[in-house]
Amino acid sequence: MSYISMNLVTMFYLIASVCFIQALKGLSSPSTARTGNAFGMSGMAIATITTVALIFKLQAQAATTGGLGFTLVLLGVVVGGGIGAFAAKKVEMTKMPELVAAMHSLIGLAAVCIAVAVVAEPWVFQITTPGVALPFGNRLELFIGTFVGAVTFSGSVIAFGKLSGKYKFRLFQGAPVSFPGQHMLNLGIAIALIALGLVFCFAPGVEPAWTPFIIMALLAFILGVLIIIPIGGADMPVVVSMLNSYSGWAAAGIGFSLNNSMLIIAGSLVGSSGAILSYIMCKAMNRSFFNVILGGFGGDPAAAAAGGTQEQRPVKSGSADDAAFIMSNAETVIIVPGYGLAVARAQHSLKELVEKLTHKGVIVKYAIHPVAGRMPGHMNVLLAEAEVPYDQVFEMEDINGEFGQTDVVLVLGANDVVNPAAKDPKSPIAGMPILEAYKAKSIIVNKRSMASGYAGLDNDLFYQANTMMVFGDAKKVIEAMVKAVD
Ligand code: TAP
Repeated sequence: MSYISMNLVTMFYLIASVCFIQALKGLSSPSTARTGNAFGMSGMAIATITTVALIFKLQAQAATTGGLGFTLVLLGVVVGGGIGAFAAKKVEMTKMPELVAAMHSLIGLAAVCIAVAVVAEPWVFQITTPGVALPFGNRLELFIGTFVGAVTFSGSVIAFGKLSGKYKFRLFQGAPVSFPGQHMLNLGIAIALIALGLVFCFAPGVEPAWTPFIIMALLAFILGVLIIIPIGGADMPVVVSMLNSYSGWAAAGIGFSLNNSMLIIAGSLVGSSGAILSYIMCKAMNRSFFNVILGGFGGDPAAAAAGGTQEQRPVKSGSADDAAFIMSNAETVIIVPGYGLAVARAQHSLKELVEKLTHKGVIVKYAIHPVAGRMPGHMNVLLAEAEVPYDQVFEMEDINGEFGQTDVVLVLGANDVVNPAAKDPKSPIAGMPILEAYKAKSIIVNKRSMASGYAGLDNDLFYQANTMMVFGDAKKVIEAMVKAVD
């Protein structure tokens, strides 16, 4: 029987890498995102099949010495692939960030498990032969892979809890959790980690230095928790992309240990694209990149705590018919979609409403905030699903100057992204750029109640004299508007 040659493995890994690069390129614009996704899936299929073929070959070569457990590998592919396919099919679009956080945690845990296996039996991975100590370079790679993997795992578990918002556990609440001396504790742990890493890397003898290695892994798990708990509410998008980046670096680190070029390339692509995305998100949210990476360093927990209070103030409310009448008689309308629109799955009805208004001569545009919804590009994906023409969709910086001259702004299931509290230096979302809906001549806000948004803050926009609230599920309200416009 002939097995896959190493030249073929290298060639397939190269093809998969090119597919991944094309995937990233495609995903940079909604119009090419489907092609990008197709490239990503093809690349992953090629990489997985090639790796399984390679393991099969190594298994056959090592058959006399006990083997590598090819059956276990196949079982892993089937069970892991099955769970992944089931989860992806079942998960709602609005729950995507939780799924992504859960996946990141698994990548981190996998990195730690592989590192432990390599430290225990490096000869199985053809790094050394039995009786020979692990070289310094490999120990360093394993130390970094374990450290980044452990931080990614525990940090992603906390992010998962915070994003799902379903669990009563204090650390899983959206509000930041901080305590005196938190940053000094983080710093102390980081210094201890470096010291333990040095002891592990320079330990003499053939036997691995398990004690510093295990303590280092445990401290890294704790550091992952400590880094994420002080980040709350509106800053979670940055955390998700940051953990995405960490998971990539963890995979790349393990790729070096295993001498697997595919893991190194794919891990580096995920790591660097995640870091770039985090940087873009930080810029969009007016947050310091380093503050976020270091765990909300410099944030004001007192302000965050104060921000949760909700006032009882009168608001003006109207019906869907009133809203339709106002919009039909306007010259210009800007629509601000938010998370609630995605929950209600009202994008198709919205497109119909816009077509009817446009037919009546109203100029309608969509304004997209970079963190509206629950994942990067969420609103773009939602509108693309309803085949809304791209030329009607405007990014925040391109449309913010127009709100002051706009007759009506229709806010649909959005809250934090239009909250003028961001202009208040004492607010937890201070400095976050918002869509300046409050400047419009008339504002219509649709949501189900006066409940706060993701950041847990009251919103002054709802109490403005020129704001009309239309309460109800976005889909039902928009359908009623469509009928009324007719
Ligand atoms: P939010 O501030 O979360 O507000 C959404 C609003 O939609 C809620 O106030 C809710 O009020 C309303 N709503 C929910 N279901 C609805 C339905 N069926 N019909 C009508 N309204 C409904 O959303 P946003 O303005 O899009 O801001 C996004 C927030 O999420 C930001 O704070 C952002 O930082 C955070 N976040 C974003 C991401 C990314 S990457 N985009 C990731 C994680 C977190 P009612 O309950 O009263 O209806």
